[in-house]
Parts: sequence; structure tokens; C-alpha cells
Amino acid sequence: MKFFVDSANVKEIREAQEMGMADGVTTNPSLVAKEGKPFKDTILEICNVVDGPVSVEVVATEMKGMLEEAAEFATWHKNVVIKLPTTKEGLKACKRLSSQGVKTNLTLCFSPSQALLVAKAGATYVSPFVGRLDDISHVGMDLVRDILQIYENYGYPTQVLAASLRHPLHVVEAAMAGAHVGTMPFKVLDLMFKHPLTDRGLEQFLSDWEKVKAQVLAPA
Ligand code: E4P
Repeated sequence: MKFFVDSANVKEIREAQEMGMADGVTTNPSLVAKEGKPFKDTILEICNVVDGPVSVEVVATEMKGMLEEAAEFATWHKNVVIKLPTTKEGLKACKRLSSQGVKTNLTLCFSPSQALLVAKAGATYVSPFVGRLDDISHVGMDLVRDILQIYENYGYPTQVLAASLRHPLHVVEAAMAGAHVGTMPFKVLDLMFKHPLTDRGLEQFLSDWEKVKAQVLAPA
């Protein structure tokens, strides 16, 4: 399973990369806005930190504008993946870009029917939003499972990128379902490392080791 960092914060992304856990990055307009830095500079900085796909989202709502933005983003770095909304216009843009060999990530996917269209449009990734479905009392992970089943039925190469993951259990469930990628905020990645029994066990080992040292150093 690939891990993408769902962030536009270069410090966090660098830390995830140093942990060896950043296979790629997903950004969106809200994440970029949160950093308060120029858009292009932020993306270029991220591309210099992580050698993997970096999703950059268009803000146009019509195909023509989406394609213009995509053409611009594609000149920024070879690892840029064009993130498009799962709308009729987004799917039309996706079809065009896919036929030109441009990598795409179709975001804001909330239903299996949308995901089927995404695969037919030749997208590289589909992003089902797990947490946002949970927020409205739907089991978001069911969508990930349904999409994986549909794609397997027909051998569609589109990769399922489980998004809007809010806690480590979401990541584990996405992995159990077989999602190709999970994109998560840095704080979720960081939580995955933690277990109180690991901390307590290590503390015990280190304090016992002090006794061993004391015995070795003790005069005969
Ligand atoms: C990823 O591509 C999405 O932008 C992101 O996962 C959305 O997460 P949120 O629902 O927690 O904002």
C-alpha cells in the first residue's frame, strides 16, 4: 500500500519523507490556503522533497479552464498529477488528459457510480472520501470496498486512493480492503507509530539494562 501525505505543509511532508513514509502527496485548495504561501512555490517545494506523485487541484469548473490549468501545472514538475473534481466537466477533462498520457486524480468521489465513470475516463487515481461520508452517517469504507470490487470485475487500471482518512483505523481498514493508496494528514501518520505497550516495554528494557550494566561494572 502506498502512503500519500494529505498536506501542503512542507515541514510535515519533509518529516514524513524522512520517516520513509511519503510515497506521494495530495494537496487541495483548502490545504494550500491554510499555509498562506504562494501556490506554485508551495507545490515546487513539495516536489523537491518527495520523489513521487504530487496531486495539484484545478479550480476551474469548466473543461476548457481545467485543461488550461492542467497544462500550466504540468510544466511545473514531472511528478505533478492533475486533480480534477468528479463532475461531468471534470470527467471530460480527465478523458482528454488520459488520452494524452497525463496522470489524473479524480477527487470528491462519493458513489460507486461516479467511480465507474472515473475508471471509464481513464483516470490514474480515484479518491473516495471516507471521512466525509462517515460525517453524514454513511459507512465511508463501504465505498472503497465497492469501488475495488467493480474495478476488479473489469480489470480497470485506475488506482483506488482512499482519501479523507481521519484516524489510523481508517488506514488499516483501507489496507484490509486492498486500497492501492491511502492519503492521510501527518497527524494520522504520526498516530500510527504510537502504542503505549511499546513505550512501557521499552522503558522496562532500558531500566533492566541499567541493572546489567551495574553488574558488569561492579568490582568483583
Ligand atoms: C485528498 O485528496 C482530500 O483532499 C482530503 O483527503 C480531504 O480530507 P478531509 O475530508 O479530511 O478534508
